Amino acid sequence: MLFVGWEREMKVSKNETPFITDVEELRSRARKSINNGAITPAYQADVKQTIEILQSVLATEIVCVLRYTMNAVAAAGISSDSVKEEFDEHAKEEQGHARAVAERINQLGGKPNFNPEGLASRSASQYVDAANLIDMIKENLIAERIACEHYRELIWYFGDKDSTIRVMMEGILANEEEHANDMHDLLVAHEGDPMLPDHS
Ligand SMILES: [Fe+2]
Ligand SMILES: [Fe+2]
Repeated sequence: MLFVGWEREMKVSKNETPFITDVEELRSRARKSINNGAITPAYQADVKQTIEILQSVLATEIVCVLRYTMNAVAAAGISSDSVKEEFDEHAKEEQGHARAVAERINQLGGKPNFNPEGLASRSASQYVDAANLIDMIKENLIAERIACEHYRELIWYFGDKDSTIRVMMEGILANEEEHANDMHDLLVAHEGDPMLPDHS
């Protein structure tokens, strides 16, 4: 759709007016819709719905920051130092995800929802108070797998509708898959048995 519009403009400029008119037209259109920020007339997605979806991703990421930070502080037991480090690193990365998602909400004209009230119900993953190191690792693995599943759907949903979000979510998903893998490795290292089936 976008290319059809651009092609038509190019033809008009070739036949009737110099190219500069098109630039001016584009500038005046951009000026007219200046209040829309990153939303140009060619934007394909439903902005309101997009912001709502991103608010839920933001909540999911904030819950992940809280869970990993709490785990990094509370982890105790044999070889817990290396696990604490891993939890800390993940907490920082989840914070980066939250920030990126919040920035995109802002670009779309929305107000990123950081309100602690209702946070757990907006989030796709849960905040579980795990009793010991193994349970912490298990809960994180579950949360990461939920996030991966959810984000894969969103990548498919956004497709060409909002390629900026699609690319952002692809980057976040790759990171969540690493997190899930890290948690799985930790579980095997501490428990011996893999929780997930072996596909080799
Ligand atoms: Fe994340
Ligand atoms: Fe993660």
